[in-house]
Formats: sequence, structure tokens, C-alpha cells
Amino acid sequence: MSFSLGVTLATAASLFFSGVAAGTLNRRDDVRAVFTKSHWSSATTISFPGSDSFDAKTERWNAFDPPTYAVAVSPGSQSDLVKVVKLATAHSIPFLATGGRHGYTTTLGALDNGLAIDLSNFNSVKVNKRAATLTIGGAVRFRDIYDPVFEAGFEIQMGTCSCPGMVGVTLGGGVGPWGGVHGLLIDALLSLRVVTASGRVVHVSAKSNPDLFWAFRGAGANFGIVVSATYRLQKQVNRGQILVADMLFPAEKNVSYFNLLEAYNRKVPKGISISSFVLYNTTIGQAQIAASWAYIGPEHEGRKAFAPVFALKPISTNIQTFPWNKVITSGSGGIDAYICQPGLNHNIYEVNARKISSATYKSAFSKISAFYKNNPTARGSDILISIYANQAALAVPDSATAYAYRDTVAYNDIQFSWSGSNSTLEAITTALGRQLRSEFAATSGYSDLAVYLNSAHGDETLKQKYGTRKLPRLAALKKTWDPDRVFRYNNALPTRYP
Ligand SMILES: Cc1cc2nc3c(=O)[nH]c(=O)nc-3n(C[C@H](O)[C@H](O)[C@H](O)COP(=O)(O)OP(=O)(O)OC[C@H]3O[C@@H](n4cnc5c(N)ncnc54)[C@H](O)[C@@H]3O)c2cc1C
Ligand SMILES: *[C@@H]1O[C@H](CO)[C@@H](O)[C@H](O)[C@H]1NC(C)=O
Ligand SMILES: *[C@@H]1O[C@H](CO)[C@@H](O)[C@H](O)[C@H]1NC(C)=O
Ligand SMILES: *[C@@H]1O[C@H](CO)[C@@H](O)[C@H](O)[C@H]1NC(C)=O
Repeated sequence: MSFSLGVTLATAASLFFSGVAAGTLNRRDDVRAVFTKSHWSSATTISFPGSDSFDAKTERWNAFDPPTYAVAVSPGSQSDLVKVVKLATAHSIPFLATGGRHGYTTTLGALDNGLAIDLSNFNSVKVNKRAATLTIGGAVRFRDIYDPVFEAGFEIQMGTCSCPGMVGVTLGGGVGPWGGVHGLLIDALLSLRVVTASGRVVHVSAKSNPDLFWAFRGAGANFGIVVSATYRLQKQVNRGQILVADMLFPAEKNVSYFNLLEAYNRKVPKGISISSFVLYNTTIGQAQIAASWAYIGPEHEGRKAFAPVFALKPISTNIQTFPWNKVITSGSGGIDAYICQPGLNHNIYEVNARKISSATYKSAFSKISAFYKNNPTARGSDILISIYANQAALAVPDSATAYAYRDTVAYNDIQFSWSGSNSTLEAITTALGRQLRSEFAATSGYSDLAVYLNSAHGDETLKQKYGTRKLPRLAALKKTWDPDRVFRYNNALPTRYP
């Protein structure tokens, strides 16, 4: 009796977690056995679906079509990580190595009943003051480096949120507000320690495996698991004090605001970054623009640089100075904490642009306004227009790294969000997302849709994600370093191109 009950429960659990009937139970057990039978160092932990520890190690920012796992292994040492990779490849077990778990591309959903290689034990943050370098473990999040870097008297280019993994962001290029002054995150990267598909530990830098170093800077998720990464730190600009102006513009000012953005075509001043969120305002039941302008440099210069936007007379303006280590978490009215909350469904479409088109933004504003009206449960959706100066990013030759779009000035993110499953919303947001994406692409200044790899929806072509010029070399390197494509769930490269 108890035996048959046990079987029933196990079968029910298997159905519940995999959504697939016969066959999966054996497979899940087989996958687990590979890892539970091995001997591990005491810091390595193994967890299974249905436990809190598994949830803690696999919870993702995006709940929409996530990868699913039979087991999560959290290696406690580099040698255990090597062992996990060798076991997985020897048994053809599909896996994903995870850092900050903020990747939201839909290709990740193709991983079913696989292995999560959770890198969270690789969490060290070390600043070398004398050498002006930062060395971090593969799962360190931006928020972990703010204080150590700032307190040592430095700053570094970074992303706009505190929660993603710094290495994960870097591998696709690493774009952020200080591209004009400091460049992309890959431009600060000095070296990596990597576990390759074959389980070798290699040092990757300009001198050691330079081809791989080129590929890691823009297409990194294809080539290995980063155990640690070392970056060059930057001197603090303006003693690390950053001017931020947060402003609100009502719907009727959308055209004048977008016209102002267009006036920055080809001349975004070096210290400026402009984040503009089209959001729904629940109080007044309308779309609005929440703008956050930041200036890295002397305050009087910043105020002068912001004069054109102040002249538009926002309905509210909040001007503050933040130290570099607090600007992400405290600026923009604390929107970071809101954006960072995990577990919602996000359906995201991104378009890179090197030209700013007011007409396109105006049309998108009108379409998302109608969307808010008709879809009350998805009013947390937004369009984020990030305009970053790119002088320092452009100072690095295009051929120096795998990143394809150094000349991008506007990163446009159409982000639909809702909670709980809703297939109607899935269909509506997919249709509108694709439509807006092609409208943005048509006026982007690129001849085809250009997408930042780390923000790719997943359905774009290889050319759109990697850029035409880089693909042949990337494919050849994929063939050398990952011939069996074990790193294949994140918009993976082919081993031949064309
Ligand atoms: C709220 C939010 C804010 C964002 N802001 C920015 C931004 O300002 N600038 C920007 O450029 N991007 C930004 N992004 C996009 C971000 O670059 C990608 O989502 C990135 O893939 C996140 O990395 P992760 O480690 O958090 O995610 P994960 O889901 O853990 O990993 C994503 C991919 O990177 C790989 N990966 C992660 N760590 C490692 C490692 N140590 N070794 C090898 N592979 C690894 C994974 O295998 C996977 O393929 C943002 C995303 C979100 C959700
Ligand atoms: C909503 O709009 C009103 C009126 O314009 C404004 O006062 C309020 O601050 C807005 N709310 C948010 C959360 O932006
Ligand atoms: C955008 O601004 C224009 C010009 O003021 C206005 O006619 C239009 O209605 C606005 N769009 C929305 C959706 O409010
Ligand atoms: C699902 O989305 C549709 C379209 O917006 C909406 O009408 C419906 O109420 C949503 N259902 C739930 C359960 O939220």
C-alpha cells in the first residue's frame, strides 16, 4: 500500500514539474544519479526541485518560459566546477551556467529537465588598489561591487540596475550610462579565468588565448564558464559625484519630449545618459514619461547640459547628487528596487538605434497608451529608451572585440510585464512587441534590425544578434572551443557561417 502510494506521488511530482508524461521520471532520476553518486568537496551543494534550496538557486528574474532542471549543482570550488562540466558533457546532460539569473531571452526555455550549474559560490569581490583592478567571481552582482570599488577611491562603467550578474552583463558587451566617459564593460575587462566545454581551465586575456578574449567580449556565453573576471578600474570623475534629474512629463508633452530626444541625434554630450520610461500612471489613468537624466562630471556643467529638458517644464523635477556607489539604487526615485523584483512574466523586444526618431517614439507612445487602456492586468509594462553617450565606446576599434554595435546611441526596450499565466496577454504582447520592434528598426539608422545580444528576444536572426561582420570568425571559434555546442541555450552561435 505505502509502496504504491509512493509511486503515485513520485509520478505526480514528475508530471507536475515537467509537464510531460511517461519517460521523464527515469530521465530525471538518471540525471540526478550522475551528480549524487560523485564525491564533492564540502562547499558543493546539490538540490532538487520541490526544495527551498533548489528554488533559491534557480529562481529567475523572468518567469516567462524559463529553463527547467532536474537538479541544481552549486560547485564550491573550481575543481568541482570542472568535474560538473565533465560529468554533464560525458553523459550528454544539457545544462545552463547561471550568474545573476537575469537573462530573459526566450531561447533559454528550450532547456528542459537539465542541469543548473549555479555559480553563486563564486562570489568574491577583490579590489587591488595599487594595480587599480577589480577581480570578481562569476556570479557577483553589480550591487556587490558598489561599496568596495567606491571606498577604494575608484569607479567603473556599469549597468543601470543593481541586480544582474556583472559577468553575465559583460559577456554580451555591457552597456550602461557611462559609455561616453568610460566605454562598455568589455572595454574595462582585462582577463578571465574560464572553464571550457572540454573541462579545461584557461586564462583568457589580450596575451593568453587572444582569439578567445576577442570572442568573450560580446559573445561570451557561447564559449565557457567564467570562474573569475578582472577589470581595470577608473579614476573617479568629479570625485564620484553624479548629478541626476528625475522628471515627469504628462501624455500631452510626449511630442515635445521626443522632439528634444531627437535633437540629440549624433551629438549626445560625453557625460550624459538619458533614461526615459514610458509608464502607466494609475492615479490619472494615462501613460506618462518618467525621465531620468544623469551627468557624470562637474555639477554646473550638468545643470547646463540639462537646460533644454528643464525648459520643457516637467510637472515634477527632482535634482539630486548621488555618490557613484548609491546612484543606481537611490537615483530615479528608487525605481531599481521595483525593476529588480524577480518572478514576473516579461516579454521583451529590444532594438538598437544609431539614429533617434521622434516620429517613431510618438507612434509607440500612442500604441502603448491604447495597450494600457485595453489590458489592465499588464499596466506594469513599459518602453524604456536608454540614450547613452558613446565617445569612449567608439574610441575602441570595432574590430577589437566581438560586440557588434559600438555606434548605438539608443537602446530601446519594449517590455511587457504581468503576473500569473495569461495566454491572451502572451499573444497580444507578442503581436504588439513584434510590430513595435519593426517600427523601431525601420528608423534606427541600421539597414536591418540590430539587437543587443544580451537583450535579444530570441527570435531574431544570427546577423541581427551578432552583426554580419563578426559572424564568420565567431563561428570558427565556436567550432574550435565548443564543437558540440554544449553552451547552446543563449542565442547560440553555429559552428559554421555562412
Ligand atoms: C533588470 C535588468 C537590468 C539590466 N540592465 C542591463 C544593463 O544596464 N546593461 C546591460 O548591458 N544589460 C542589462 N541587462 C541585460 C543583461 O545583460 C542580461 O540579462 C544578462 O544576460 C544577465 O546576466 P545574469 O548573469 O544576471 O543572468 P543569467 O541568466 O545567470 O545568465 C545569462 C547568460 O549569461 C551566462 N552567464 C552568466 N554568468 C556567467 C558566467 N560566470 N560564466 C559564463 N556564462 C555566464 C549564462 O550562461 C546565460 O547564458 C539587464 C537585465 C535585466 C533583467
Ligand atoms: C501621476 O500623475 C500625477 C499627475 O500628473 C502626478 O502628480 C503623480 O506624481 C503621478 N504618479 C506617478 C507614480 O508618477
Ligand atoms: C502625444 O502628444 C500629442 C501632441 O501633444 C497629442 O496630440 C497626443 O494625443 C499625445 N499622445 C497621447 C497618447 O496622449
Ligand atoms: C488576461 O489578459 C486579458 C487581456 O488583457 C484580460 O482581458 C484578462 O482579464 C486577463 N486574465 C487574467 C486572469 O488576468
